[in-house]
Amino acid sequence: MGTVPTEVHLEYKGRKPGETMKALAWFGPEDVRIVDAPVPDITEPDDVILKVTGTTICGSDLHLYHGEIMALQKGDILGHEFMGVVDKVGPNVTNHKPGDRVVASFQIACGECSYCKQKLSSFCDRTNNSSLQNYMYGHRDAGFFGYSHFTGGFPGGQAEYVRVPKGNVNLLPIPLGIPDEKVLYLSDVLSTAYHCVMDTGINEGDTVGIWGLGPIGQCVAQFARLKGAKRIIGIDSIPERLTFAQEKTSVEPLDISQHKDVVKRLQELVPGGLDVALDCGTFHEPKSILHKVEKALMLETDVPETINEALASVRKGGRVGVIAAYAGFANHVNLGAFMEKGVRLIGNGQAPVHKWWKEILEEYILPGKLDPTFMISHRVPLEDFPKLYDAFDKRKAGVMKVFVETKFSDQPAPGCPKTSRVDDWAY
Ligand SMILES: NC(=O)c1ccc[n+]([C@@H]2O[C@H](COP(=O)([O-])OP(=O)(O)OC[C@H]3O[C@@H](n4cnc5c(N)ncnc54)[C@H](O)[C@@H]3O)[C@@H](O)[C@H]2O)c1
Ligand SMILES: [Zn+2]
Ligand SMILES: [Zn+2]
Repeated sequence: MGTVPTEVHLEYKGRKPGETMKALAWFGPEDVRIVDAPVPDITEPDDVILKVTGTTICGSDLHLYHGEIMALQKGDILGHEFMGVVDKVGPNVTNHKPGDRVVASFQIACGECSYCKQKLSSFCDRTNNSSLQNYMYGHRDAGFFGYSHFTGGFPGGQAEYVRVPKGNVNLLPIPLGIPDEKVLYLSDVLSTAYHCVMDTGINEGDTVGIWGLGPIGQCVAQFARLKGAKRIIGIDSIPERLTFAQEKTSVEPLDISQHKDVVKRLQELVPGGLDVALDCGTFHEPKSILHKVEKALMLETDVPETINEALASVRKGGRVGVIAAYAGFANHVNLGAFMEKGVRLIGNGQAPVHKWWKEILEEYILPGKLDPTFMISHRVPLEDFPKLYDAFDKRKAGVMKVFVETKFSDQPAPGCPKTSRVDDWAY
């Protein structure tokens, strides 16, 4: 199919021959390894090279880990949620200088196209070379860090150094005195959760259902509460995650291992229907035999169970927001409920981080309305990434959001988890 021409290029120049860094690379389904990769140098004049001081794993990485996203190549460096200190800048970079602390957005935006002008950075037209995405979706998203050649093939941030193309626009400066643990997640999960809430729309007094209580669902619950939701019902099967949401955000738990018929249970709890249903789950864990079989036989790539539950559980005229990642096609979608009930079914898209990150920092984190460290369950060194993928995938030991440190990280901030080894808590 070839590639589409773009404003930025994924290949990077290495620094001195033999100068290497540690990075996490994909080699196949459930096979990720720490490798020695060349330290990136300025390759294009808008580049910034970052020394990574904080990185992490996201639920979206699990789709790559399970081989559910096409176009990965052996040796691809993963990771799209990271921050650091500016190490080097290209001649066109005016917004940052060496030594500045910055957070990177998970998407690489050009800053100039019609979408970028509206800060819809994840929709940037000029940074993703994937003709496959054009073919499947009619148009394509921005390029993303560390998220396969379907989104541009850029090396990611689960590494000691990263090359950030178009550094003027893809990095948010962080004020002094605020620890990495409070700002790292502006890169993705905080901006994504906030986008889900804002894009779907939550009004004062709404009753909200959240499917999936991973880090995204937990942050969505926090923002929904701050936006005035009266009742929040959290739907998941992991006991620690249900309890966590109950304790941190007064979410009413709905355990799907106890209540197989989620729609029936929601009708008991909220007879008139939810005002808003938010899909923060994952498409790679089908529940029913039908979808397990169809998925295994590749009759569908994605599973619409959560969307169907959401369509049947919202009130007439209710809203369903889909922030969970989907990649392709699904069978048996309840189009009848969608149409007959006048449901607003909203694909939230990959979150446009540039639209929200400053607002979240200035209006929520700095004034203390939201403390993102509420969700950090563990802190581990970069070398532990392969084991962390397995532990996060299997949701071991109450793992929620993890702070992954590198040799450039500060000491853990007061009140945040100290460094531990995955072996010591997960196995
Ligand atoms: N749109 C975006 O910009 C964006 C950005 C980041 C993450 N995401 C997506 O958001 C989703 C959540 O991310 P995360 O980091 O919290 O992931 P996660 O894998 O840690 O959490 C997913 C949760 O969903 C639960 N779940 C699975 N099937 C379910 C079902 N049928 N009903 C109810 N709950 C179910 C799981 O038990 C788990 O607790 C993922 O799909 C991820 O790819 C989207
Ligand atoms: Zn992510
Ligand atoms: Zn653009």
